[in-house]
Amino acid sequence: MDLKLALIGTPIQHSLSPWIHQQFLEKAGMNGEYQLFEILPEESFEDRVMELKGMGVDGFNVTVPYKQKIFPFLDEVDKNAVKAGAVNTVVRRNGKWIGYNTDGTGFLRSLKTYYPSVNPSMQILLIGGGGATRGIYYAMAAAGYENIDIANRTTKKAEEIAELSEGAVHTTVLDLDNAQEQLKKYDVIIQTTSVGMKPYTDHSIMPLDGLKQGAIVSDIVYQPLKTAFLLQADELGADTHLGHTMLLYQAQHAFEIWTGKNVDVEEMDNKLMKILE
Ligand code: ATR
Repeated sequence: MDLKLALIGTPIQHSLSPWIHQQFLEKAGMNGEYQLFEILPEESFEDRVMELKGMGVDGFNVTVPYKQKIFPFLDEVDKNAVKAGAVNTVVRRNGKWIGYNTDGTGFLRSLKTYYPSVNPSMQILLIGGGGATRGIYYAMAAAGYENIDIANRTTKKAEEIAELSEGAVHTTVLDLDNAQEQLKKYDVIIQTTSVGMKPYTDHSIMPLDGLKQGAIVSDIVYQPLKTAFLLQADELGADTHLGHTMLLYQAQHAFEIWTGKNVDVEEMDNKLMKILE
């Protein structure tokens, strides 16, 4: 049977998800389609979601600006997505619509793939206070990471995220200046905001001088492939982790939720880089 998948959001014309999932379908030896189902701001969100469900889709991705708005239209929401406050993947299972969030888990899968030495006892610094920060924070806390500090321009937003903490995670909230002064402390530094994204490619959220030797520096921005933040990390001799890999691994986890199949994404990395260059 053909798998029917879709993406809702707006604007989505330039989304890379159809390309990624088409490759996954081929790799998994499955027939199917992944279509763009744009919902414009002036349209009734409810009517369009009903229309989508009525089309017999097996699952769909949700992107901006609907990751929160989709909640009332789901029968169940996975704990991960509840904590993240956002759903990016929906599956129809036994007639029920179930929401998940694979952004944070995808990020962590990607980080662990490129840097297998990363482990829960390391000192982690997340920079940011938006939806992506929240998703990554919770995925790492749920995976047992013990020390995850959060630095944000507006510390109140970081404090709200830290309140999500559960289990063993220990979190200190910092402002950006404080974090910069204490950079030496961190094994992994993760930039989780849109700062540095095209066309503002010379912007960097924080100078990285004083970085610990051997630190890993990550940025979720993938346009440009290497942000000013990561270029400075390079100059300082740090290891870098690029944002486009999160895109691949969040999709891998979504595909797994829809099909139960774990497709290999490593060889797609270079292809995706070429598309983004
Ligand atoms: P989301 O992840 O929800 O899409 P985003 O718009 O990409 O969010 O990024 C929001 C985050 O970027 C916030 O943490 C914001 O800081 P504030 O909480 O202080 O608003 C941060 N941010 C955006 N522009 C920034 C800048 N020029 N300097 C520092 N932080 C900035």
